[in-house]
Amino acid sequence: MKKITIAIDGFSSCGKSTMAKDLAREIGYIYIDSGAMYRAVTLFCLDNGLFTGDDIDTERLEQEMGNIRISFRLNPETGRPDTYLNGVNVENRIRSMEVSAHVSPVAALPFVRQALVAQQQQMGREKGIVMDGRDIGTTVFPDAELKVFVTASPEIRAQRRYDELKAKGQPADYEDILANVKQRDDIDQHRAVSPLRRADDALLLDNSHLTIAEQKAWLIEQYRRTCGLS
Ligand code: DC
Repeated sequence: MKKITIAIDGFSSCGKSTMAKDLAREIGYIYIDSGAMYRAVTLFCLDNGLFTGDDIDTERLEQEMGNIRISFRLNPETGRPDTYLNGVNVENRIRSMEVSAHVSPVAALPFVRQALVAQQQQMGREKGIVMDGRDIGTTVFPDAELKVFVTASPEIRAQRRYDELKAKGQPADYEDILANVKQRDDIDQHRAVSPLRRADDALLLDNSHLTIAEQKAWLIEQYRRTCGLS
């Protein structure tokens, strides 16, 4: 059967990764979390002293971009891909509050976006891919056959991230997380390069009051419809 490209964009912590991963697994497609790539670059900056407070040494980061290798490998225990930075599994570290608090300015740098978008397009050149992020349907794969734009209220998204961190035994404060979610929404929507916006041909999904199983069923139905299977 002909494979397609599936682009899932939306606000942070709206559950798009969960639905994208589940869909990819169900239909045998590759799954790429593009946000993990921006997070990995941010972790590299933190680990290599490229931040002074909130300021990034952009000159050094631009020089270092060629030394940042990001890849994904399936974790047999979770059945999901883990993120690797220069050969080291950083899946847990890139989800920390420290990385969340520093990632937006890194993702707003044009040379970072250019490098990561080129890698993402390379990963999807043979189709059969589900990629989630902010600019997948608008910039990375403007010709994707299926585009979905996911949203949910900031409070619900903050609660989900709080639950996720707690479940992993990481420190979490609901009010801090809510402030971080709102701040990132603002930066993501108003940055100069590739701001978060719904592509004209993207389907809108507000999942504030949907269960994971309901979203999953909805997405599979959209996939089947797009492929002419239902
Ligand atoms: O989806 P996430 O919260 O893991 O994304 C982390 C950050 O990366 C977020 O601030 C937005 C940014 N991002 C982006 O600018 N473009 C993408 N395609 C994916 C994520």
